[in-house]
Amino acid sequence: MGRIKFSPALPIPGFTRRDMFRGPMSGFLETNPRTHTCGALRASDIDRRVVLTGWVQSYRDHGGLVFIDLRDREGVTQVVFDPGLSAEAHRLAGELCSEHCVGVAGKVVARGANVNDNLATGAIEVWADTLEVFSRAETPPFPVEDKLDTNEALRLKYRYLDLRRPRLQKNLITRSAITTTVREYLSRHRFLEIETPFMVKYTPGGARNFLVPSRLNPGSFYALAESPQIFKQLLMGAGYDRYFQIVRCFRDEDLRLDRQPEFTQIDIEMSFIDEVQLQTTIEGMVAALWRDVLGREVTLPLRRMTHAEALERYGVDKPDLRLDLVLCDVTAACRQSGFRVFEGVVAGGGIVKCLRVPEGERLSRSMLDGLTDFAKPYGVKGVAFARVQDGGAWQAPFAKSFKDEARDEVNRVAGAGPGDVLLFVAEKAKAANTCMGAIRLHVGDKLGLIRKDEFQFLWLTDPPLFEVDDDTGEVAAAHHPFTSPRAADEALLERSPKDVLARAYDLVLNGVEIGGGSIRIHRSELQARVFKALGISDDDARAKFGFLLEAFRYGPPPHGGIALGLDRLAMIMAGAESLRDVIAFPKTQKGSDLMTDAPTGVSKKQLDELYIQVSPALPTRA
Ligand code: AMO
Repeated sequence: MGRIKFSPALPIPGFTRRDMFRGPMSGFLETNPRTHTCGALRASDIDRRVVLTGWVQSYRDHGGLVFIDLRDREGVTQVVFDPGLSAEAHRLAGELCSEHCVGVAGKVVARGANVNDNLATGAIEVWADTLEVFSRAETPPFPVEDKLDTNEALRLKYRYLDLRRPRLQKNLITRSAITTTVREYLSRHRFLEIETPFMVKYTPGGARNFLVPSRLNPGSFYALAESPQIFKQLLMGAGYDRYFQIVRCFRDEDLRLDRQPEFTQIDIEMSFIDEVQLQTTIEGMVAALWRDVLGREVTLPLRRMTHAEALERYGVDKPDLRLDLVLCDVTAACRQSGFRVFEGVVAGGGIVKCLRVPEGERLSRSMLDGLTDFAKPYGVKGVAFARVQDGGAWQAPFAKSFKDEARDEVNRVAGAGPGDVLLFVAEKAKAANTCMGAIRLHVGDKLGLIRKDEFQFLWLTDPPLFEVDDDTGEVAAAHHPFTSPRAADEALLERSPKDVLARAYDLVLNGVEIGGGSIRIHRSELQARVFKALGISDDDARAKFGFLLEAFRYGPPPHGGIALGLDRLAMIMAGAESLRDVIAFPKTQKGSDLMTDAPTGVSKKQLDELYIQVSPALPTRA
């Protein structure tokens, strides 16, 4: 890791004896201020007298000498107790157990032939003449080490022990380094850090909100802010050009590995910019983060891809570009292919999506058959496959019904040749794309084709402004209703809302949406047209967003912004698999904190104060 701010190589900042005028020296820490962290000592420190503090990682008694591995968040140092050096320290060391919290003072000695290359401090050990046991530990419910076979629920219950494990400590150190760099970078670029309220007015739409009852206003509720969106736009109106905030957001959503009910955004808003200027600012921050935190260079500018191209080639709006497989649309070739299943879907307005997998012999028959089960949750009935033979012929159950010209055309569009396997899904566009996008990743993963050590960034641009329900024709905002349409598409707002593209963008990294934002509407007449397209009446708009509309009557600047998901960013940068591994005290899939046991019931008295009645069927806690 590059420039982590608390580098283990740095001496502990802080205390020297000169600083201390405490009268008679008594305790260990007063007489022995810590000199180094447990990850700091090297061969160049040999013969120094040092003081280390930390937790006993392991204990060994070898022929009279006691060895412990002493651990703190920076690393591990081997400490030796020799009765010849201090009988008292040696005797005390004999009583140590895992996770006792101790301090030692002694001399740094070379390990000679016993150098441990797996440890940063492996060239040395500390021969201790003083040992202080600050506190003893009961036997922990699981060993505090990275290689761990304990279920996550137990780890979350004892999160404070789980957090002692080196991997989680590295993750949180990485996270801290990220926020430090973000603050440095944004301050350097004239951003102001401004806080906005968590307890806000409830506005319908967007994510489901957590509600907070107001005791002082019985029967009224605040919503916990799902993001500072409206406030940051008001700040632009108020002239605080270039705002940022590292801010907690709250959404009562169904949780997944990459979602938490409270999560953190790096929230940004700028005035007098267009999308490219904003993206360039964010790219600079990304490059600074990768340089500072990971010691890696990111090539700028980042790649850009339109939403339409992403769906066409990858089936999803957050393509993982660490995998070279791409999808193609073979609808036209299948329209009159002779194969009834495909023809029927195309005639009914569906599409046929195809994925070419090279070295198809690596896909076994059972793997290919298994794809149909994989596809079902996506609302897809089946996945057809064909093995391409010499000369382009197909080995497939439906090969006979497929006309030669149609097959040749599919081969041409897919770029298929002998040895390839072609996978097909025929469905309505949305289901076909989503399903094939997932199959692409699934097959790529099974075949080991995803380059796991790469960071593949992508700006996804020009998404639709609205989501239009195929069946009901109902129009909803794809982002939020303040997102600006592209100037060229404004004329379509009334005529053909589904074709209006937005001045919005997502930042995608390795197939994960790590950020999203847009240029906002600042002209009230355009805002009124967008509300109208959304079916929001003037009265409705005033009731929901009156204060913003009112504010925008007083000369709002053109502005736009973005929010990056800090947890997701940290997860990828730390190489973690779940958001929970980069959040100190996360919630489970059911939104509970297993350590504190939140959420809990509350007393009737508390509820009465809030004029809240809970259904008698639900338990309350006295
Ligand atoms: P959006 O809703 O896209 O945009 O959120 C921005 C980013 O926040 C992260 N994110 C989450 N991370 C963890 N758990 C969650 N439940 C969760 N939800 C979102 C994602 C996402 O890309 N106000 C707009 C931003 C803007 O327009 O400026 C907003 O909140 O990484």
